[in-house]
Amino acid sequence: MIKTQSEGWGTRVGLVLAMAGNAVGLGNFLRFPVQAIQNGGGAFIIPYIICFLLMGLPLLMIEWTIGRYGGEKGNHSAPFMMDRMGKKRIWKYIGVFGIFSNIGIAAYYCFIESWTLAYIFHSAIGSFTGMTQNEVVAMFSSYVSLDEATLIPFEALIFFLICLTINVYILSRGLSGGIEKVAKIAVPLLILFGIFLAIKAVTLTAGSEGANFDGILGLNFLWTPTFDTISNPKVWLNAAGQVFFTLSVGMGSIQCYASYVKKKDDIALNSMSAGWMNEFVEVVIGAAIIIPLAVGYFGIDGVKQLAELGGLSIGFKTLPFLFNQWGTFLSTISGIFWFGLLFFAGITSSLAMGMPVMSFLKDEFSWSRKKSAWTFGAIVLALGLPTVFFYNFGVFDEYDYWTGTFSLFLFAMLETILFAWVFKAENGWKEFNHGADFKIPRVYKFIIKYITPVLLIIVFVASTIKPVNNDWEGAFNNLINGKGWSLDNSSVIKQALNSGLREQLENTTDPALRNELEKKILYTDGAKILLLITFFGIAYLVRVASNKRKKERRNET
Ligand code: PHE
Repeated sequence: MIKTQSEGWGTRVGLVLAMAGNAVGLGNFLRFPVQAIQNGGGAFIIPYIICFLLMGLPLLMIEWTIGRYGGEKGNHSAPFMMDRMGKKRIWKYIGVFGIFSNIGIAAYYCFIESWTLAYIFHSAIGSFTGMTQNEVVAMFSSYVSLDEATLIPFEALIFFLICLTINVYILSRGLSGGIEKVAKIAVPLLILFGIFLAIKAVTLTAGSEGANFDGILGLNFLWTPTFDTISNPKVWLNAAGQVFFTLSVGMGSIQCYASYVKKKDDIALNSMSAGWMNEFVEVVIGAAIIIPLAVGYFGIDGVKQLAELGGLSIGFKTLPFLFNQWGTFLSTISGIFWFGLLFFAGITSSLAMGMPVMSFLKDEFSWSRKKSAWTFGAIVLALGLPTVFFYNFGVFDEYDYWTGTFSLFLFAMLETILFAWVFKAENGWKEFNHGADFKIPRVYKFIIKYITPVLLIIVFVASTIKPVNNDWEGAFNNLINGKGWSLDNSSVIKQALNSGLREQLENTTDPALRNELEKKILYTDGAKILLLITFFGIAYLVRVASNKRKKERRNET
């Protein structure tokens, strides 16, 4: 094993804040509220909590253990950590997901992160002052659209480049000198900004500051559990997806951070501190900003409609307008706090996506920190440009689906099988508790061995073969009656075939719409090909690295 500059965490507080910064991200403030609204508010909360306890927490334990165990022998990238745990060659290639997802997610994540920079700037110079809701939406649309004359989205492109450069610069300063320093400032600040906004949102009262409803109605909508959708697999899939995304599990980034902790460190306590801190920021602060604010002005039905349209961009399309109702001073401050908080949340996560790539290049090819940081930046630029240019043609969502949802499910399922059944849950549990003063209930050993892997397999299979309209009962009846199984357009298989768009194309004769659909199909298929090339490119490098290792071992003996 060749060692270049040695990396490590400076302090325990720094490590926990960096790990919390890794988990706390745009997922907490933008994705969670939208998921909660789309899945019925209070109906989402129970599946969410159960998925957190039975899949999220166990995966945190598994990934911290895989990381520290791998790091002991100088392995900081998923392929070789997994290689060490399961003797079969295949595990190394499954580990490719632990690098791939980070790159794929970074490609669209850094784009949203760059929006936050632009919006901090616009809040500060007062661009939103006096704008109507429609004008705020129009500003967002023009921001992500191509300039008509040059076909280049100038502003979006410039902020994307600035954002990437900041990321690369911090990454090139290393763990304790870059990432940890940033986390120590950014995480506390973002929590402060968040608390300020949450208090403003929850105390919003109908009739004052232009509000039509009490903000607290939004919280009630979210926190009154209902059981009506509890048997709907779609809600469960979305809840599991959100838990994975927000905790950053199933991606390889936690393993990478954890591979730099010392063998004697208490990973039981550290993993739980970082994980629960993320949940606090998500369900307490994250839930208390967009939802109550938007409900205060648009009401619950209005917010539901917005969530259908808005997706991740809802915070950009509505909040600047809502802040406007608070007078110039407070609206400027709130705008800077809101987009500043998103930027801090975003950057501490995108840095975590860079580390696995850099560690791989450093471990296997002895690249310097600088060189690997710039390489990561260049790859994200190349993969990210299609999202910047073709945001309106679905490239962004395509990346999110394959890297931010599908790969997480698949990788989480496989690594859990490796940990619980190949490496064996008993050994894993011992390894996890090594050096721990903090005692986690032993029932988790049982959960890791039987419950988590089975649930993950169910989640994975269910999303792959999701039946039409998510009607599982109907689908099983059809199957029993010999009518076969018809897949939903959002099932993995139909997504891969782009069936939804193709169907729409078949059913329309309107030339303008046909043109748009044809473009969308072209660009989303193109996005899939780019991602496939990336995956196989990494797999090839893993193979090269593995052969290199073999040769070195032979030379040593
Ligand atoms: N957990 C982060 C969020 O909630 C996203 C993330 C993905 C972080 C991949 C690291 C790696 O936004």
